[in-house]
Amino acid sequence: MTDQSEFQNLQKVLKKYGQTRLLAFWDRLGPVRQERLLAQIGQLDFIQLDRWRAEFVMNAAPFKLPVKLAPAPFYAHQPGDAGQRGKYDQARQLGDKLISQGKVAAFVVAGGQGTRLGFDGPKGNFPISPVKNKALFQIFAEGISAASKKYHTSCPWYIMTSPLNHQQTLDIFSANNYYGLNKKDVFIFQQGTLPNFSLDGKILLADIDAIATSPDGHGGSLRALYNSGAMADMKKRGVEFISYWQVDNPLINIFDPLFVGLHALDGAEMSSKALVKTGPFEKLGNFCLADGKVTVIEYSDLPDELAEKKNPDGSLVFELGSIAIHIISVDFVDRLNNHGFVLPMHRAVKKISHINDKGQRVEQKEPNGVKLESFVFDALPLCKKSVILQTIRSEEFAPTKNATGVDSVETTRQMMIDRSAAWLESAGVKIPRKSDGLPDCVIEIAPSFALTKEDVIKERDKIPAIKPGDKIYLA
Ligand code: UD1
Repeated sequence: MTDQSEFQNLQKVLKKYGQTRLLAFWDRLGPVRQERLLAQIGQLDFIQLDRWRAEFVMNAAPFKLPVKLAPAPFYAHQPGDAGQRGKYDQARQLGDKLISQGKVAAFVVAGGQGTRLGFDGPKGNFPISPVKNKALFQIFAEGISAASKKYHTSCPWYIMTSPLNHQQTLDIFSANNYYGLNKKDVFIFQQGTLPNFSLDGKILLADIDAIATSPDGHGGSLRALYNSGAMADMKKRGVEFISYWQVDNPLINIFDPLFVGLHALDGAEMSSKALVKTGPFEKLGNFCLADGKVTVIEYSDLPDELAEKKNPDGSLVFELGSIAIHIISVDFVDRLNNHGFVLPMHRAVKKISHINDKGQRVEQKEPNGVKLESFVFDALPLCKKSVILQTIRSEEFAPTKNATGVDSVETTRQMMIDRSAAWLESAGVKIPRKSDGLPDCVIEIAPSFALTKEDVIKERDKIPAIKPGDKIYLA
């Protein structure tokens, strides 16, 4: 920066917000590195950051339980009576039509780091399928390709990455020839980042000319869809609905006509799929009606007495958990972005490697700072209308979060085999089972063979007899 007065103004702003340390090593930087640092500082919205600093960094703002809290209404997995059956049929037909017309896009959020899995690289590249060891990205790509064929259209796929894995993700898609998809139907874009704070509210430096940042959470997708041009691309294609899911769930049913149809029929802006929790304390967000609005309350924020509260029939009052599967209307994302929306922030105290006051890099061993993230489900209360559809865990939710134990590689693979076995059984195929009831065989159904149980029934004649210990791949 050559203009001295501009520089002095910047110093004043930093002083006002207590962030002068960002320029602590200014004199050690040459012009190129100075420009680099200035460009980053120029991206920061100090007014907003200072609000978050006060509310979420310096204090952990206590969670305020809404005054009026009730379980959220939902559509059950199966219709309850003839009237509802009619509505589900109508919704399915409408969903089929919207998908066939190319009005539904696939959207996976894949900007996270996958630290718990201990996998180096984008989580979407993790090999998971039980016979062919296909990566998550490949499973989704084949699902999208099969849906495009089934619905005689080209379903576009939007993928959100972050600076942590963007280039690697592009390289993976390129090396795999976009898994057979048309490159023009795959739109890969980056989410935003937020600066990291020390526990006393100072923005940390990652280098003497670089601010320490991290991805702004999956809630950042609602802004990134807009800022990246993904929304403009959707509009150009005539996309009206976004089918949102997380990269760790290979059982996702990306194009579900019933879900799309109920969302559209009810004129919803953002809808969700939900599961009945395994127990009061399963670590899933809870669907609630908070002051009349559908809201997800994190498991850690729902008081125990509410989590354990039961209906007369013994079921939990707050029984529905969030599995991060949504339909989001393009118009809703547009409305939010045109009206300066702000989602609440969530703080995570973490080990953040940084540059100390002497300009030396510190590889942090203990938690020393705060990362801020927003969550996509916090947009639900901003909706004029929101629909919840109950789904079945074994059909649609097997998150690969950990290397071992709960929600792990092993449980996901087993659930993939179990679902395939159940689909085959529903088509009348005999599945050998062990004494504990688990299939005594390994089965993988490629999306090209079947996307649903109903598709398997149509392909019944192509399915061979299965013997104990067999490894079967159906494609
Ligand atoms: C999440 C949900 C939880 C839900 C569960 C289902 C939160 C706080 N919790 O838990 O309600 O029941 O999944 O599996 O979200 N991501 C980004 N950018 C980011 C952060 C995350 O794209 O900045 C993506 C990840 O790549 C991943 C997804 O968001 O696809 C979820 O992130 P993760 O950190 O794994 O969330 P969980 O804590 O497992």
